Amino acid sequence: MSKRILVTSALPYANGPIHLGHLAGAYLPADLFTRYQRLKGKDIIHICGSDENGVPITIAAEKEGVSPQEIVDRYHTRNKDVFRKFGIDFDYYGRTSSETHKKTSQDFFLNLYDQDIFTKQKQEQFFDEEANMFLPDRYVKGTCPNCGHPEAYGDQCEKCGTSLSPTDLIDPVSALTGNKPIVKETEHWFIPLGNYQEWLEEWIGSRENWKPNVVGQCKSWLDTGLGDRAVTRDLSWGVPVPLKEGEGKVLYVWFDAPIGYISATKEWAKIQGDPDRWKTYWQDEETTLIHFIGKDNIVFHCIMFPAMLKQHGDFVLPENVPANEFLNLEGRKLSTSKGWAVWLEEYLEEFQADLLRYVLGTTLPETKDSDFSWKDFQSRVNSELADILGNFVFRTTSFTQRFFEGAVPELSNPTDLDIKTLEKISDQKEKIEKAYESFKFREAIYETMELARIGNRYFTETEPWKTRKENPEACGNTLYVCLQISAALSVLFEPILPQKMHQLRQQLGVPESIAWNMVDDHILSAGQLIEEGEILFEKIEDETVEKQVEKLKQRAADKGSSEKNFTPLKDEIEFNNFASLDLRAGKIIAAKKVKKSNKLIQITVDLGFEKRTILSGIAEFFDPDEIVGQSVCVVANLAPKKMMGIESNGMILMGEDTEGTLHFVETDAEPGSPVT
Ligand code: MF3
Ligand code: ZN
Repeated sequence: MSKRILVTSALPYANGPIHLGHLAGAYLPADLFTRYQRLKGKDIIHICGSDENGVPITIAAEKEGVSPQEIVDRYHTRNKDVFRKFGIDFDYYGRTSSETHKKTSQDFFLNLYDQDIFTKQKQEQFFDEEANMFLPDRYVKGTCPNCGHPEAYGDQCEKCGTSLSPTDLIDPVSALTGNKPIVKETEHWFIPLGNYQEWLEEWIGSRENWKPNVVGQCKSWLDTGLGDRAVTRDLSWGVPVPLKEGEGKVLYVWFDAPIGYISATKEWAKIQGDPDRWKTYWQDEETTLIHFIGKDNIVFHCIMFPAMLKQHGDFVLPENVPANEFLNLEGRKLSTSKGWAVWLEEYLEEFQADLLRYVLGTTLPETKDSDFSWKDFQSRVNSELADILGNFVFRTTSFTQRFFEGAVPELSNPTDLDIKTLEKISDQKEKIEKAYESFKFREAIYETMELARIGNRYFTETEPWKTRKENPEACGNTLYVCLQISAALSVLFEPILPQKMHQLRQQLGVPESIAWNMVDDHILSAGQLIEEGEILFEKIEDETVEKQVEKLKQRAADKGSSEKNFTPLKDEIEFNNFASLDLRAGKIIAAKKVKKSNKLIQITVDLGFEKRTILSGIAEFFDPDEIVGQSVCVVANLAPKKMMGIESNGMILMGEDTEGTLHFVETDAEPGSPVT
């Protein structure tokens, strides 16, 4: 293992606020990793900052009719602040408008320029005569040649998704003035990425432990063949090209932004009072460099930036780039322009940061796109954070308060179960470590919660409320073990729930200086006093999350988006699991409302070979009378279940549309026929 680790997470554009997708893509995984390594005692720093250059900024400014400076100042401050509130613990959060960055990126450019790496090429580009400027792709609008959408951009049609270049557009106009642009010649510097093709193939091919989704994307770029890429732009906002002949031009934002990691590290070192210290992180071979990013940034971090670093020669190359896939929201692609997003500032108006850290952590799009839904948020908070972790800690500490005067009991004559359970702390710790080391954060979180599950089972099994009178020694042992587990959890959960675990450590008297490796020993000593227990996690009501979904839908509707809201697909199952379902055709022959229930109808179904009573939660949608004679499809081998005192024998399949309306699944097959 290397001496030190340098973690970077993608510099977010300072052109808008941070949302859930950002957090799940890069910042949360990077923070989990950094906090874990730091607890392990690693020399590690986490560097980030605002990406303040490029067209994304000038577009946002134009849209609002304010200056680019106003945009970046606003969002730099807001984003930095919201990251802090979410416990994303950067060692430094810089900005690419800084003097250090200007100098660092210009020097980088000049280094490659002096090595004669760039080629200068003439290009024809759209020019707006009234605005007197060359138009970046995004600044040209027109009709999509593919789908006829009249508002397509010069780089992409957002209606059909086709990627375009400005000259593909039918009737192109300048997005600035609405004028028809003219075509004018311009000159730019290009980096011939093809020269690095062979080296990149070898280098990427030899990377160990890279995620398949990352390697896959790199391979497909390499298979297409790398061409020349312009590293300068005609724009008045950004880092000026440091050449006489480059006047009026700036560095391409994807050239300067990754260099921002280096400039930010320099600024960090200065603040540490050791200005040269950045070099140990960027130039010493014993540094492991890790870039956390979302999948749309892969090509820049795995191909372009490594080629630049390699050519420059003075820098370490990334050891790993554990890019995440995308996070969807309520079954739909996240889209800020369509209002389909949850912004972190907005989230914080209603909920605590740690809850989202946990829930997002369990749903990170690590290997494929994943989905965040408010229902799932509620259910994980209630049934995992509150019912498992919170409950375990609460029953442990309140029992200690009530019956042991708040002092950790002695462990004396422990049973096998006591000892085995204590050993589970180390077992779980090892599993968690393995998961963190291989960037499997979902697994790390699962295994951490598993320790709380183990604690709960043990508490229930040893029945301290009984042994308290019958066998006080055993009761003391139970509490001793549960308190040690609670203390271990306050450390092992720290990367995920920093604010809550700080609170728990205070309650238990676990010192803040505690290190990860100390959880193998018994953290608390017998006789040590713990404080009164407070509920760590409050449950979330249905109403609260329903309001969030409503808000989301309302906003999307206001923005005129009519996209439907499909429920996300469940995880894949084996064929055998499906085959064990016995589905049958049936016919409803009688139906009546279940007394005192708003939802249930008691239905008699003819299955050909027998008649069944089935309770179905459809009373809000159907009258009992209207469904008699309805053909249905029944899950016929479902274990019986009693509801409102009546036994239900099976389930009637219903289709639920995006509006939440129910429809019968019908079949013409005669009652009793298998549905396969
Ligand atoms: N600003 C870019 C984005 O939001 C990410 C830049 S990452 C860096 O997609 F490496 F260039 F800094
Ligand atoms: Zn189109």
